[in-house]
Amino acid sequence: MSSVPAADFLPDTPLILGMMRLQDHGDLTRPANLAAWIDARLNDGLDVFDHADIYGDGECERLFGEALRVAPALRQAVRVITKAGIVHGHQDTSRWVTKHYRAEAQYLRRGIDHALRRLNLEQLDTFLIHRPDPLLDAETVAGALEDAVKAGKVRHIGVSNFLPEQWRWLRTHTDLPLVCNQSELSLGHAQPLFDGTFEAHLIDGLHWLAWSPLAGGRLPELLPTSLRDRAREETGLCETGLAIAWLRQLPGRPIPVLGSLREQRIQAALAGTRTNLPRPLWYALLEACRQTAVL
Ligand SMILES: NC(=O)c1ccc[n+]([C@@H]2O[C@H](COP(=O)([O-])OP(=O)(O)OC[C@H]3O[C@@H](n4cnc5c(N)ncnc54)[C@H](OP(=O)(O)O)[C@@H]3O)[C@@H](O)[C@H]2O)c1
Repeated sequence: MSSVPAADFLPDTPLILGMMRLQDHGDLTRPANLAAWIDARLNDGLDVFDHADIYGDGECERLFGEALRVAPALRQAVRVITKAGIVHGHQDTSRWVTKHYRAEAQYLRRGIDHALRRLNLEQLDTFLIHRPDPLLDAETVAGALEDAVKAGKVRHIGVSNFLPEQWRWLRTHTDLPLVCNQSELSLGHAQPLFDGTFEAHLIDGLHWLAWSPLAGGRLPELLPTSLRDRAREETGLCETGLAIAWLRQLPGRPIPVLGSLREQRIQAALAGTRTNLPRPLWYALLEACRQTAVL
């Protein structure tokens, strides 16, 4: 088991682009438009895209793959993270029609193959188990993940929404490094900074990929206008940039998985990745969102 972060895992990535909301953008459901959007992101210096088999029931991966089909040069330029392991109730073909987790070796093997096919890729940069599964058979699952890496289908393995003991249990069964945990972290969800969860990532060498870095759109309600105005005056950043700068300033530099596909918000987020907040402002933002001062 390794606690050294994999040096080649997203070393210079300031932001990951989350694809969960792709279908909210009708124009981007056309392959040529999506290909142009991907190309524009590459020109912004952003080449990592986050998917999951459940986003649009596979449709988000498929649309992305279609874009790569119409613009094949992009296939070599993008790096894709995807996940599997959640089955929604409406996807459950059993008589129980129940949402459940399937971190099962055979299910994940198939999940990787299906994702590669939908995405029109030969290799995933990173594959994540989407949620910790109490029924996880760590030995067989670790074996399936190792096989996928050996076969060249996946470069890196990670987890998502795992607590430290959950990833440690999986790690005891493999020599493969777990490179990341994709988990919620933002001004609207800062609890992991106060219960040791955050430091566990640093100790074990798992990069934090922070989902919902803009609190899923709740920043305008969380941040008082007066604070936003004063912070903008001092830093030049709007609330999007502030939230991203706030995250990137943490030790280990968590990588935000941005959910917005809008040009303007992506540029605002990028501005945040280039800005260091004064320490008192970092705390003022936290205090406002938690509605409580640190002791
Ligand atoms: N691993 C997991 O379990 C997990 C769970 C959830 C998500 N994810 C990943 O994380 C990515 C990001 O999640 P997310 O979309 O929740 O992240 P987010 O970046 O926090 O939220 C983006 C959403 O908030 C809206 N928004 C942001 N700032 C706003 C503002 N100032 N005013 C109004 N609306 C605002 C955006 O609208 P606009 O589109 O108008 O900009 C967009 O709908 C997903 O795409 C997915 O890849 C992973």
